[in-house]
Amino acid sequence: MERRSSRQAEPKVSAPQSFTEAVEPYREALQEYFSSKRAEGSPLSEAIAGIIDAGGKRLRPVIAMLVCEAVSGSFEKALPVAAAFELAHSASLIQDDIIDESAVRHGQMATHKKYGETKAILISDMMIFEIFLELAKYGGSGMSATRLAKLSSYIGNSAKFTAEGEFFDSILAEKGSATEEEYVKLAELKTGSLFAAAAACGAIAGRGTLKQVNASYQFGRNLGISFQIRDDILDIVGNEEATGKPLLKDLQNNASNMVLIHALSHADNYQKQSIHSMLYKKWFALQEIQALMKTLDQLGSIDHSNAVERNYAAAAKKALEALPASAARSKLEQLTEGLGSRTK
Ligand code: IPE
Ligand code: IPE
Ligand code: MG
Ligand code: MG
Repeated sequence: MERRSSRQAEPKVSAPQSFTEAVEPYREALQEYFSSKRAEGSPLSEAIAGIIDAGGKRLRPVIAMLVCEAVSGSFEKALPVAAAFELAHSASLIQDDIIDESAVRHGQMATHKKYGETKAILISDMMIFEIFLELAKYGGSGMSATRLAKLSSYIGNSAKFTAEGEFFDSILAEKGSATEEEYVKLAELKTGSLFAAAAACGAIAGRGTLKQVNASYQFGRNLGISFQIRDDILDIVGNEEATGKPLLKDLQNNASNMVLIHALSHADNYQKQSIHSMLYKKWFALQEIQALMKTLDQLGSIDHSNAVERNYAAAAKKALEALPASAARSKLEQLTEGLGSRTK
């Protein structure tokens, strides 16, 4: 029998993990899963492998895996659905960079810059078709036909909503102004829908109850909205090296951005004019940027956006209460907390 002497050193209390450390094993499991299915290569599938390997936080798949673990005790059953959401997300980024005329992603040339638009369209197409192949992996897994149909409809709807969101973004840019209410609808469509469906599908893959599936959807929806708000803040005050994408893109494209919407709806005529004069510009003088930062500071637009971001994150955390308390649920809470101060 093992005996401990009273003089034996106390077990070390490990330092609290950051959320990135906590989710690393899930990111690795996904990477392994992607690598294992790359037996035969074609130029198109090799291009896709290169894009997937180029980086990304893998948040949607990590969320699917963690929710699956929270409802069932293990995450492996969620791997095909996790891969499906990363593919949907990557395809949306390729198309988004074409739409936004953005040349850099993950610190590298964006796909349409590296391969040209023709190939970028085909690459994103193939990623979308791969989603069906991932879903097909549940055939013969013992998953009921009803659950499989639910998985398909969550994925299909979320991809549709993402496209709706990108479309709505163009409509708002043409209109020239947006309200905060319109912004939230946009963020819910273009970002919240994939986060929400990834979480719900994780619960379905883990054979969760209907209540758990619905709560997971609400968790992802709120987290996705908060995530987009943080992305908007980083578009203005982030660091290009950390985010791996160009700064001030939303201003250049007149794309809806929470910080700018708040500023424009509270600015006086002079401030409004100076922000408007920066729209659609290809580059900015240092003084212009400094003046913009001063205006945003005076109007409290970053603070306001941070506060709204925290409200959605709190709603996401609240939704998690419907899942059984577990290490996986704690990691989801940690992730929700940590994403609010992310720099990339
Ligand atoms: C970027 O999403 C697009 C938005 C919804 C803002 P991510 O920031 O999750 O993209 P990667 O995959 O981690 O680069
Ligand atoms: C796009 O939002 C979200 C998608 C549906 C791809 P953004 O245009 O803000 O994403 P980034 O900033 O280019 O990553
Ligand atoms: Mg973009
Ligand atoms: Mg952005």
